[in-house]
Amino acid sequence: MLDIYTLGEPVLQNKAEPVLNFDRKLVDTLEAMVVTMHRARGIGLAAPQVGISQRFFIVQIENEKPLFFVNPEIVETSIEKMLYEEGCLSIPGVYAEIERPSTLIVQALNEKGKRFTLEASGLLARVIFHENDHLDGVLFIDKLMPSVRKKLIEQYESRMRA
Ligand code: CO
Repeated sequence: MLDIYTLGEPVLQNKAEPVLNFDRKLVDTLEAMVVTMHRARGIGLAAPQVGISQRFFIVQIENEKPLFFVNPEIVETSIEKMLYEEGCLSIPGVYAEIERPSTLIVQALNEKGKRFTLEASGLLARVIFHENDHLDGVLFIDKLMPSVRKKLIEQYESRMRA
Protein backbone atom coordinates (compact mmCIF):
# COMPACT_ATOMS: atom_id res chain seq x y z
CA MET A 1 0.00 0.00 0.00
CA LEU A 2 1.46 3.31 -1.15
CA ASP A 3 0.72 6.82 0.07
CA ILE A 4 -1.42 8.88 -2.29
CA TYR A 5 -0.06 12.41 -2.71
CA THR A 6 -2.65 15.14 -2.68
CA LEU A 7 -3.15 18.63 -4.06
CA GLY A 8 -0.27 20.93 -3.14
CA GLU A 9 2.47 18.28 -3.40
CA PRO A 10 4.96 19.47 -6.03
CA VAL A 11 5.30 16.00 -7.59
CA LEU A 12 1.74 16.38 -8.92
CA GLN A 13 2.74 19.44 -10.93
CA ASN A 14 5.98 18.16 -12.43
CA LYS A 15 6.44 16.71 -15.88
CA ALA A 16 7.36 13.07 -15.26
CA GLU A 17 10.39 11.35 -16.78
CA PRO A 18 10.23 8.39 -19.19
CA VAL A 19 10.77 4.92 -17.76
CA LEU A 20 14.11 3.47 -18.90
CA ASN A 21 14.35 0.26 -16.90
CA PHE A 22 11.76 -2.49 -17.17
CA ASP A 23 12.79 -4.28 -14.04
CA ARG A 24 11.29 -6.02 -11.04
CA LYS A 25 10.99 -2.71 -9.24
CA LEU A 26 8.66 -1.36 -11.93
CA VAL A 27 6.43 -4.45 -11.74
CA ASP A 28 6.38 -4.31 -7.93
CA THR A 29 5.42 -0.63 -8.04
CA LEU A 30 2.62 -1.26 -10.56
CA GLU A 31 1.26 -4.09 -8.41
CA ALA A 32 1.42 -1.93 -5.29
CA MET A 33 -0.43 0.79 -7.20
CA VAL A 34 -3.23 -1.68 -8.03
CA VAL A 35 -3.65 -2.50 -4.32
CA THR A 36 -3.55 1.21 -3.43
CA MET A 37 -6.11 2.09 -6.11
CA HIS A 38 -8.48 -0.69 -4.97
CA ARG A 39 -8.31 0.45 -1.34
CA ALA A 40 -9.08 4.00 -2.43
CA ARG A 41 -11.88 2.78 -4.76
CA GLY A 42 -10.33 4.47 -7.76
CA ILE A 43 -10.37 3.46 -11.41
CA GLY A 44 -7.00 4.92 -12.34
CA LEU A 45 -3.76 5.93 -10.64
CA ALA A 46 -0.67 7.60 -12.08
CA ALA A 47 2.88 7.26 -10.75
CA PRO A 48 3.16 10.95 -9.69
CA GLN A 49 0.16 10.35 -7.41
CA VAL A 50 2.30 7.93 -5.39
CA GLY A 51 5.25 10.32 -5.43
CA ILE A 52 7.08 8.83 -8.41
CA SER A 53 7.83 11.31 -11.19
CA GLN A 54 7.89 8.74 -13.98
CA ARG A 55 5.67 8.17 -16.97
CA PHE A 56 3.36 5.31 -16.07
CA PHE A 57 -0.19 4.79 -14.85
CA ILE A 58 -2.73 2.08 -14.26
CA VAL A 59 -6.40 1.91 -15.21
CA GLN A 60 -9.04 -0.56 -14.11
CA ILE A 61 -12.69 -0.12 -14.89
CA GLU A 62 -15.65 -2.35 -14.07
CA ASN A 63 -14.65 -6.00 -13.90
CA GLU A 64 -11.76 -5.74 -16.34
CA LYS A 65 -8.17 -6.60 -15.50
CA PRO A 66 -5.88 -3.72 -14.56
CA LEU A 67 -4.13 -2.18 -17.57
CA PHE A 68 -0.57 -0.89 -17.28
CA PHE A 69 0.59 2.02 -19.46
CA VAL A 70 4.29 2.86 -19.45
CA ASN A 71 5.67 5.80 -21.47
CA PRO A 72 2.24 6.30 -23.10
CA GLU A 73 1.61 8.57 -26.06
CA ILE A 74 -1.89 9.57 -27.11
CA VAL A 75 -1.48 9.46 -30.87
CA GLU A 76 -5.00 10.28 -32.03
CA THR A 77 -8.10 11.88 -30.54
CA SER A 78 -11.60 12.36 -31.91
CA ILE A 79 -12.86 15.75 -32.99
CA GLU A 80 -16.08 14.92 -31.20
CA LYS A 81 -15.96 15.86 -27.53
CA MET A 82 -17.99 14.90 -24.51
CA LEU A 83 -18.63 16.13 -20.99
CA TYR A 84 -17.98 13.66 -18.20
CA GLU A 85 -17.78 14.11 -14.45
CA GLU A 86 -14.27 13.51 -13.14
CA GLY A 87 -12.77 13.10 -9.73
CA CYS A 88 -9.23 12.34 -8.60
CA LEU A 89 -7.75 10.40 -5.69
CA SER A 90 -5.34 13.31 -5.22
CA ILE A 91 -8.20 15.80 -4.70
CA PRO A 92 -10.68 13.74 -2.68
CA GLY A 93 -14.25 14.93 -2.70
CA VAL A 94 -13.88 17.25 -5.68
CA TYR A 95 -15.83 16.47 -8.84
CA ALA A 96 -16.43 18.46 -11.99
CA GLU A 97 -17.65 17.94 -15.51
CA ILE A 98 -14.76 18.20 -17.93
CA GLU A 99 -14.87 18.31 -21.71
CA ARG A 100 -12.46 16.03 -23.56
CA PRO A 101 -12.41 14.13 -26.85
CA SER A 102 -14.77 11.14 -26.90
CA THR A 103 -12.25 8.61 -28.20
CA LEU A 104 -8.50 8.16 -28.42
CA ILE A 105 -5.76 5.91 -29.67
CA VAL A 106 -2.92 5.41 -27.22
CA GLN A 107 0.41 3.70 -27.75
CA ALA A 108 2.30 2.53 -24.70
CA LEU A 109 4.58 -0.15 -23.33
CA ASN A 110 3.42 -2.76 -20.86
CA GLU A 111 5.28 -3.67 -17.67
CA LYS A 112 7.64 -5.88 -19.69
CA GLY A 113 8.46 -3.16 -22.20
CA LYS A 114 6.29 -4.63 -24.95
CA ARG A 115 4.58 -2.05 -27.16
CA PHE A 116 0.80 -2.06 -27.61
CA THR A 117 -1.82 0.16 -29.20
CA LEU A 118 -5.28 0.62 -27.74
CA GLU A 119 -8.33 2.38 -29.10
CA ALA A 120 -10.66 3.54 -26.36
CA SER A 121 -13.95 5.36 -25.96
CA GLY A 122 -16.37 6.20 -23.15
CA LEU A 123 -15.17 5.80 -19.58
CA LEU A 124 -11.95 4.01 -20.55
CA ALA A 125 -10.87 6.86 -22.84
CA ARG A 126 -11.78 9.35 -20.15
CA VAL A 127 -9.64 7.66 -17.50
CA ILE A 128 -6.68 7.37 -19.91
CA PHE A 129 -6.86 11.11 -20.71
CA HIS A 130 -7.05 11.94 -17.02
CA GLU A 131 -4.15 9.68 -15.99
CA ASN A 132 -2.01 10.71 -18.94
CA ASP A 133 -2.42 14.35 -17.89
CA HIS A 134 -0.93 13.47 -14.48
CA LEU A 135 2.32 12.58 -16.28
CA ASP A 136 2.52 16.18 -17.51
CA GLY A 137 1.69 17.65 -14.12
CA VAL A 138 -1.87 18.49 -15.13
CA LEU A 139 -4.85 17.89 -12.84
CA PHE A 140 -8.46 17.74 -14.07
CA ILE A 141 -9.28 20.96 -12.23
CA ASP A 142 -6.64 22.71 -14.36
CA LYS A 143 -9.02 22.23 -17.31
CA LEU A 144 -11.70 24.37 -15.67
CA MET A 145 -12.22 28.12 -15.97
CA PRO A 146 -9.83 29.80 -13.48
CA SER A 147 -12.69 31.15 -11.37
CA VAL A 148 -14.34 27.71 -11.08
CA ARG A 149 -10.99 26.06 -10.35
CA LYS A 150 -10.25 28.57 -7.61
CA LYS A 151 -13.65 28.06 -5.98
CA LEU A 152 -13.27 24.26 -5.96
CA ILE A 153 -9.77 24.51 -4.45
CA GLU A 154 -11.03 26.88 -1.74
CA GLN A 155 -13.88 24.49 -0.88
CA TYR A 156 -11.45 21.55 -0.84
CA GLU A 157 -8.97 23.35 1.42
CA SER A 158 -11.64 24.46 3.88
CA ARG A 159 -12.88 20.84 4.08
CA MET A 160 -9.30 19.63 4.66
CA ARG A 161 -8.84 22.12 7.50
CA ALA A 162 -12.15 21.21 9.13
CO1 CO B 1 -6.26 11.94 -10.95
